[in-house]
Amino acid sequence: MFGSLKAMPSDPILGLLTKYRNDNNPNKVDLGVGVYKNEAGHTAVLNCVKKAELHRNKTEDSKVYIGPTGSELFNVEMTKLIFGTEHKILRDNRSRTISTPGGTCALRVAAEFIKSCKSGATIWVSNPTWANHTGLFESAGLIVKTYPYYDYENNSLDFEGMLNTLKNVGSDDVVLLHACCHNPSGMDLNNEQWQQVADVAKVVGFTPLIDMAYQGFGTGLDEDAYGLRLMADTVKEMIVCSSCSKNFGLYRERIGACTIIGESSIAADIALSVVLHVVRVIYSMPPAHGAAIVETILSSDELRNEWHVELKEMRDRINGNRSIIVDKLIENGVTRDFSFIAHQSGMFSFLGITPEQVQTLQDEYSIYMVDSSRMSIAGIATSNVDYLAKSIAKIL
Ligand code: LMR
Repeated sequence: MFGSLKAMPSDPILGLLTKYRNDNNPNKVDLGVGVYKNEAGHTAVLNCVKKAELHRNKTEDSKVYIGPTGSELFNVEMTKLIFGTEHKILRDNRSRTISTPGGTCALRVAAEFIKSCKSGATIWVSNPTWANHTGLFESAGLIVKTYPYYDYENNSLDFEGMLNTLKNVGSDDVVLLHACCHNPSGMDLNNEQWQQVADVAKVVGFTPLIDMAYQGFGTGLDEDAYGLRLMADTVKEMIVCSSCSKNFGLYRERIGACTIIGESSIAADIALSVVLHVVRVIYSMPPAHGAAIVETILSSDELRNEWHVELKEMRDRINGNRSIIVDKLIENGVTRDFSFIAHQSGMFSFLGITPEQVQTLQDEYSIYMVDSSRMSIAGIATSNVDYLAKSIAKIL
């Protein structure tokens, strides 16, 4: 049975991790996978997470099944984090949140849920989008189409192209939008643009699916959810997939959430019953540990405040790196304008070089980034930025 299999190429993002780990060059630089690193290049466990784990260790008294919705406290706390405490959606009781194994499973559950609503539904994703989006949706049987998003020529947003395409999608199509920190481009919609997209969603009637994998990594927890909250105010039905991998540094715990907003409380209950069926037949129920950490942090004033401070530190470091690399490139005689990197947001930006140049950086300088020239900005540090800028200057 297995004899006819052809080997799959390694994942464009995760494959880099292995190559980087196997590289013996002491100057190697990892700008590949989207994980936060501190100045020492380490992805440390947050202090608030350590404390929550200690608390959990002392108080957990059972490992009995948790059920397909996951932890109720986590779901409530995540709903507040996503929408804020005052959102109309909460007053109208129109949202249902479940815990999922990471943001990726939230997306997969959303995809299966969409398929239950309409078999062979079309989902529109930005061009470009997270490398895993297309495969993930297609493997759930959805048809994936793209809307214009990043203008590679000008390193800016092709908002006109985006809006024109969205005006013409079907009323029963789904449109995937990145809440903030667009992966891979770092190019976000501003508040006015969100308003325009929300207006189009209302007129056309498509269903927004908002992927929020980086809440708090852009401008702030509330600021990063602005577009999502506005959209939730405007449309009748919506799906939100969120992740705790980055903002809580819980990459390997696999904890995220999938939230469905229905037209009414009753419609939301029906939708939830379908979501729970989807969960049961894929993974039955989510793991508990990550959710327990997050809910402990979010439901304690002390730990939540500590988390806010640690999150701000990560955000500020990434934003600082954006300016530092732009300055260092100038310092190293680069005349091409890279100032856009300093104005973009979140974990990533495209450097804007060819795949061949990306390969040269990898082969000759042990600098790792995705083929598209997506750089994970958190991988830049005082210790490597000179080497990085010099190497880039050489291959331009
Ligand atoms: C990334 O885009 O690098 C992250 O979201 C990690 C992943 O799973 O691809």
